[in-house]
Amino acid sequence: MTGAPLPDRLDTARLTLRPFHMEDVERFVPLIGDWEVARWLARVPHPYGPEDGRAWVALAARNRAERASLDLLAVRRNDGQPNDGQPVGGIGVILADGEIGYWLGRPHQGIGYGTEMLRAVVATAFALGLPRLWARIAPDNHRSRRVLETVGFLPLNDADHYELTAGRWRFFTRETA
Ligand SMILES: CC(C)(COP(=O)(O)OP(=O)(O)OC[C@H]1O[C@@H](n2cnc3c(N)ncnc32)[C@H](O)[C@@H]1OP(=O)(O)O)[C@@H](O)C(=O)NCCC(=O)NCCS
Repeated sequence: MTGAPLPDRLDTARLTLRPFHMEDVERFVPLIGDWEVARWLARVPHPYGPEDGRAWVALAARNRAERASLDLLAVRRNDGQPNDGQPVGGIGVILADGEIGYWLGRPHQGIGYGTEMLRAVVATAFALGLPRLWARIAPDNHRSRRVLETVGFLPLNDADHYELTAGRWRFFTRETA
């Protein structure tokens, strides 16, 4: 990995990805506290309350300072529309081994935000010098599978894991550009 600083924000067409803040807790906890979201996420406790949210914000800040992981909250971009700045989901990558995880609140699913935020974080992770990214996925998580495949990930033999190497990403982005 390069020593380049971790980004403070990433902008996509419709979203800004930026670090979690304590002031965000009351707005992201109800989204990730929804069982229909949490049931797909191996590392997220359920039920999930404000105390869990505050602990997560503190942990994400520490992991960022130690360059252990890059964890970002996805909010609607500030472009003068109603609901600007509203949290919609989160995405993170563990920098030691390239594991990537992501989620969207239920009201924000089904409109392509998943692909949008994954693509932005994948590009950043490879720019930081990670050689390989991977994700663990439940067998029946068809939407997440589709998002991973759209961005260029390939299933490994056990089909519960997907991976994307930096070489394939460079090839894939050249092909789809
Ligand atoms: C997984 C998740 C991030 C996907 O993001 P999203 O923006 O909601 O994704 P979309 O609804 O736009 O769907 C992505 C793709 O899956 C397809 N899809 C949707 N429902 C599907 C289903 N039941 N079966 C197969 N494909 C499906 C869509 O058509 C779309 O494909 P396309 O890009 O070719 O049109 C989001 O649904 C989520 O947060 N789920 C709960 C948490 C989770 O599963 N996290 C990932 C853990 S590995």
